[in-house]
Amino acid sequence: MKEKRSAGILGTGRYVPERVLTNHDLEKMVDTSDEWIVTRTGIKERRIAAPDQASSDLGLAAAQAALADANISAEQLDLVVVATVTPDHAFPSTASIIQHKLGAVNAGAYDLSAGCSGFVYALCTAAAMIQSGAMDYVLVVGAETLSKIVDWTDRSTCVLFGDGAGAVVLGPVGSGYGLVSSVLGSDGSGAELLCVAAGGSRRPASPQTVEAKQHFLSMHGNEVFKFAVRIMDEASNLVLAKAGLSSQDVDLFIPHQANIRIIEAAAKRLGLPMERVYVNVDAYGNTSAASIPIALDEAHKQGLIRGDSYTLLVGFGAGLTWAAAILRWE
Ligand code: UT7
Repeated sequence: MKEKRSAGILGTGRYVPERVLTNHDLEKMVDTSDEWIVTRTGIKERRIAAPDQASSDLGLAAAQAALADANISAEQLDLVVVATVTPDHAFPSTASIIQHKLGAVNAGAYDLSAGCSGFVYALCTAAAMIQSGAMDYVLVVGAETLSKIVDWTDRSTCVLFGDGAGAVVLGPVGSGYGLVSSVLGSDGSGAELLCVAAGGSRRPASPQTVEAKQHFLSMHGNEVFKFAVRIMDEASNLVLAKAGLSSQDVDLFIPHQANIRIIEAAAKRLGLPMERVYVNVDAYGNTSAASIPIALDEAHKQGLIRGDSYTLLVGFGAGLTWAAAILRWE
């Protein structure tokens, strides 16, 4: 059998909105404190999109940065995939809007919904397109404006989330490099633990659903926390085993940035020192599908990703879903 070709990241980009909302700002909005937020989550501030900024606007800027970094033109793209839980509209896809504004005239486009795991899901499916030989260049974007679906009177959720976008361009790389193994998982029995209850076909939007605030994100934080700690460990061990590696081979661990306590617990279980874990939850909060590509771009631009090193990505979130990937850089 012909060996499948390798697919990897050729360039990265990110964009975060200018407006910074600090914990002290939140103290004036809901009954909370900087001390509670920092101790329980590690978050100090987050970015908030302008009223006229939608997820595609953030995603477009991140995509343009990733294309420039990869030195690939928009016309060369075969596909645009956008991972988001805050699309501009129910339809058309946010990916089609970005595809058009980029001038990616030769690309197909679709959105992918897998909660905060969405970027890693999109990365793995896009890489498979390239590995199979069906496509050469794919743009993967994680773009979110969680601020638009958060109930700003609910202190148990509004302090946690932020807006932003990250993007990568994927293409063929040298044999044995790029995406070396992946794990995708789902347990829909936890669907109601983290959701927007109304506005879909199950419960269409109505004055009653708006009155009941069912158009806002709701979360059972404690349950999701326990799931996250367990699944980060399980998914990491599985993806490492599939690659024939151990956690000691991981040069950089980029986990989904939801809560510093979840990240530290996962690092401890994996036996990884925090020096090898990328953390920016303090600056952006939880940006859902955008959190891993934003962190990846920061780490890349800071020179933290060395040649011939292994990076472990792990996401978890609504669905419930989880996804892990190991990248080997050329
Ligand atoms: O990316 C998608 C995945 N999402 C996540 O990973 C989130 C996972 N969950 C978490 O990160 C944590 O569960 C939270 C940060 C959401 C909450 O932390 P916790 O340690 O589980 O706190 P808790 O929900 O058990 O709440 C403890 C107390 C409660 O008061 P009582 O009932 O003990 O009197 C809450 O009412 O803290 C209270 N509380 C707050 N107090 C001040 C909840 N939110 C706040 C707040 N400020 N913002």
